[in-house]
Amino acid sequence: MTPESVSDVEALAALDARARGPDAWSLARFEALASDQEYQLTGIVDNNTQALLAFAVVSVGPFDLELEMIAVDPNHRRRGLAGRLIVAMIEQGEARGLERVLLEVRAGNGAAQALYERHGFEVDGRRAGYYPQASGGREDAILMSRPLTHQEQGAERPAQ
Ligand SMILES: CC(C)(COP(=O)(O)OP(=O)(O)OC[C@H]1O[C@@H](n2cnc3c(N)ncnc32)[C@H](O)[C@@H]1OP(=O)(O)O)[C@@H](O)C(=O)NCCC(=O)NCCS
Repeated sequence: MTPESVSDVEALAALDARARGPDAWSLARFEALASDQEYQLTGIVDNNTQALLAFAVVSVGPFDLELEMIAVDPNHRRRGLAGRLIVAMIEQGEARGLERVLLEVRAGNGAAQALYERHGFEVDGRRAGYYPQASGGREDAILMSRPLTHQEQGAERPAQ
């Protein structure tokens, strides 16, 4: 299952709803992203069922990539799917000669932080109260980045 470009915005929105519940983006937001050249929508599709299992949204700037979102079907986690999407993003950024990948993650999202650390991201800082919470409170954002000048240092490549 190789990462590929995804244009089926309904499948993206449905997967995001399964993966992230009330935090998921709307169909309208996916439609806007899909029609904006700045964003790349990449996914992994089940070879047998053609179901979308994972996706990543990446914005491409003149110097950096930014990982806007990554999500995996709850029934297909811990199988390296997010890792494949991250490796593909890093390889693409290096092929373009870009400098860094940037991202923000909720302070309480330990699974995502572990994923990013495994792929060579380091913490750059913290933005207080950046994210709204369903409870009505706010949650800090952790800012992370990974340089693109070196090949996957310290990161494991998922099995092919
Ligand atoms: C975070 C998320 C994308 C990880 O997807 P995944 O396909 O399960 O990740 P991978 O299988 O590639 O995991 C690679 C490594 O990341 C770390 N990791 C992933 N999920 C983890 C978890 N729940 N707890 C601890 N470490 C975790 C582990 O080091 C893992 O390697 P291992 O399975 O050999 O221990 C997935 O849990 C998800 O969709 N969460 C909801 C959406 C979300 O929070 N997105 C991030 C927004 S910033």
